Amino acid sequence: MSTFHPSELSIAPRAASDEDEALDDGGPNGALGPTGRPKRHIPEPPLLNGHGPAKVLALCNQKGGVGKTTSTINLGAALTEFGRRVLIVDFDPQGALSVGLGIPAHQLERTIYNVIIERSASVTDSVIRTGVDNMDLLPSNIDLSAAEVQLVAEVGREHTLVRALRPVVDQYDYILIDCQPSLGLLTVNALAAADGVLIPLECEFFSLRGVALLIDTIEKVRERLNPKLEITGILATMFDPRTLHSREVIARVVERFQDIVFDSVINRTVRFPETTVAGAPITVWAPRSAGAKAYRHLAREVIAREVALPR
Ligand SMILES: Nc1ncnc2c1ncn2[C@@H]1O[C@H](COP(=O)(O)OP(=O)(O)OP(=O)(O)O)[C@@H](O)[C@H]1O
Ligand SMILES: [Mg+2]
Repeated sequence: MSTFHPSELSIAPRAASDEDEALDDGGPNGALGPTGRPKRHIPEPPLLNGHGPAKVLALCNQKGGVGKTTSTINLGAALTEFGRRVLIVDFDPQGALSVGLGIPAHQLERTIYNVIIERSASVTDSVIRTGVDNMDLLPSNIDLSAAEVQLVAEVGREHTLVRALRPVVDQYDYILIDCQPSLGLLTVNALAAADGVLIPLECEFFSLRGVALLIDTIEKVRERLNPKLEITGILATMFDPRTLHSREVIARVVERFQDIVFDSVINRTVRFPETTVAGAPITVWAPRSAGAKAYRHLAREVIAREVALPR
C-alpha cells in the first residue's frame, strides 16, 4: 500500500436540498418501476463473516460517456455500505476514476501500469486507500496507454490483468474494473479477468447500436479466454423520466434483454458531474439524493444476483 494520505480527501457531505426529498425511493413492490416492469423484491444483503474471494466485475461499454466511471465509483461506495470490501481498478489511461475520487493520478509514481508491465512489481505497492472506508483504488494515468502497445508483443497478453490481480483477490469482496471506451486489448484483459460484466447503457437511441458488438466480444472472450464470464446486468443510465424518448429506449432495452436489465435505473442529474468536482461518491457527498439511493439499490441487486448465481 503506498503512502497516499486519504485524509487529504476527507469531504463534508453537502446540505440536503429540496430535490433530495422529492425522491422515488422504491415505492411498493408490485408497482411499475422505471423499466416498465413490476418492481422485484430485492432481499436484504446477507452479512458476511469474512472477506473474499472477490467477485470481479468489469464495467464495460465501448461507447464513451455512458456512465462507466460514475457507476464504478458509486456502486463501489454503495457496496461498502453493505459491509463489502471493494477494490476499484482504473483501467482507462484517462485516469477519470482516480480523478473522480480526488486523487491526482498524474503525480503518482506507481500505478496499474507498473503492475502489468514490470514482472517484479507487486499489485499491493500500487493500491491506495480512498476517502471511502473499505474502498481501495488501483489508479491509472496516461502511462497505461503505453502498456497497450507494449502488451501486444507479450506471451499471454490477454491474461496480464488477471495475473496482476491474483495476489489481492482474497482481500476483497468485489473488484470493479472501470474499462476504457474501446474493445481493444485492455478491455479484453478486463473481460478475461472478470466473473461478470456490468454494461452501463445511456438511455439514448444510438446507444443500442454498439451493444450487439459488445455482447459478441463478451461471447468470444467466454469461448476463447474465460469460460466463467457472464453478463451480470445492463444498467440504464442518464434516464430522464420526463421524456418519452428515455422511456422508449428503456422499453426497447427491456424487450431485447429481458431480465438481464437491472430494475435500478440511474436518472440524469447534474449531481453526478458535481460529485466529480467534489472528488467523492454521491453516496458520501449527497447521501440522501436520488442518485445515491439508486446506486444503493443497484448494490443490493448486484449482491442478490451473486447470491442467486453462486460461483
Ligand atoms: N446519471 C448521470 N446524469 C448526468 N450526468 C452523468 C450521469 N452519469 C455520469 N454523468 C456525467 O457524464 C459524464 C460521463 O460519465 P462517465 O465518465 O461516468 O462515463 P464513462 O462511460 O466512464 O466515459 P468514458 O467512456 O469517457 O470513460 C461525466 O461528466 C459524468 O459526470
Ligand atoms: Mg470512464
